Amino acid sequence: MKNKRILSGIQPSGVLHIGNYFGAIKQFLQLQEENECYYFIANYHALNSIQEPELLKQHSFGVALDYLALGLDPEKVALFLQSDVPEVTELAWILSTITSMGLLERAHSYKDKIAKGQLPNHGLFAYPVLMAADILIYDSDIVPVGKDQKQHLEMTRDIAIRFNNLFGETFVVPEPMILSEVAVVPGVDGQKMSKSYDNTIEMFLEHKPLKKKVMGIVTDSKALEEPKDPDHSTIVDLYKLFATKEELQTMRENYLAGGFGYGHAKKELLEKIWAYFEDARNRRKELTENLDFVREVLRTGAEKARERADVVMKRVRAAAGIEKFFVK
Ligand code: ADP
Ligand code: TRP
Repeated sequence: MKNKRILSGIQPSGVLHIGNYFGAIKQFLQLQEENECYYFIANYHALNSIQEPELLKQHSFGVALDYLALGLDPEKVALFLQSDVPEVTELAWILSTITSMGLLERAHSYKDKIAKGQLPNHGLFAYPVLMAADILIYDSDIVPVGKDQKQHLEMTRDIAIRFNNLFGETFVVPEPMILSEVAVVPGVDGQKMSKSYDNTIEMFLEHKPLKKKVMGIVTDSKALEEPKDPDHSTIVDLYKLFATKEELQTMRENYLAGGFGYGHAKKELLEKIWAYFEDARNRRKELTENLDFVREVLRTGAEKARERADVVMKRVRAAAGIEKFFVK
């Protein structure tokens, strides 16, 4: 018996980077050993920000390749596209009829995105309702997410409790698992690494473009011979993710001693990143030559997810009084 039903989603809004890996994917992969996991690629959500069909398809498939290359075991996890379970949009509608405007108006993420220039579309506003449907439709027990998603999880719980109060016990009220012990991975400019800040280091770059990114990490202008501060260095902060304790200690001593330039430090970091993702990079190449396998994984994952979703949707429709006279 697997312990708990775990569900999480990731938006295919760009190419995944090492911040996504250390902040989320690595933990998702650890959870697959002990639990029944459902991981999906949130392409309906990403439609809020990508309006180029080919790009959306490319990123969606790319995320599946990344997960598999990084070690997701399709025997243990149902990996699928959100759009393969279109019932989530039906559930999102049903949930939206009991979700107050006030709840959605308090969403930080909506306000942040508008402030950054995204259009205030209804899809963006209703994003947390679709996310609640994603979670509730599989009777998920636990939802691992980054800190930024905590409020969305609270909204999901509010919506589930409201529905249960109105229509009788229907939904499992899920528990968040906030991956907050994970440090925020800095980008090449020292800010949080994010697709939207154009400061990412993608994990599957070839050596040359990877080198270009790493060499582009912003530093102060201390000369080679000067001692440097390892406690305020993006290079060291990134190096920590890959190095052993001893290697990190050596890097820190080199910084403090002087005679060790940022260029040296970047080269060491570059080789660490390159080696760390070597196996995954090779697996990803193999997978791109076997796309039928990847499609099959997504199909099987969707089938499993849909079976679960069907059970929950029957319960929801019965509770709310939604009938269907034509069932395929
Ligand atoms: P982005 O900011 O690049 O658009 P997302 O918001 O799609 O990334 O994040 C996907 C997951 O990766 C989330 O769980 C988030 O917490 C995690 N994540 C993203 N960037 C970082 C980072 N720089 N450090 C740690 N975790 C991150
Ligand atoms: N909103 C999440 C993010 O941007 C992605 C997501 C969509 C999700 N639906 C979900 C995460 C359901 C967990 C559960 O990171």
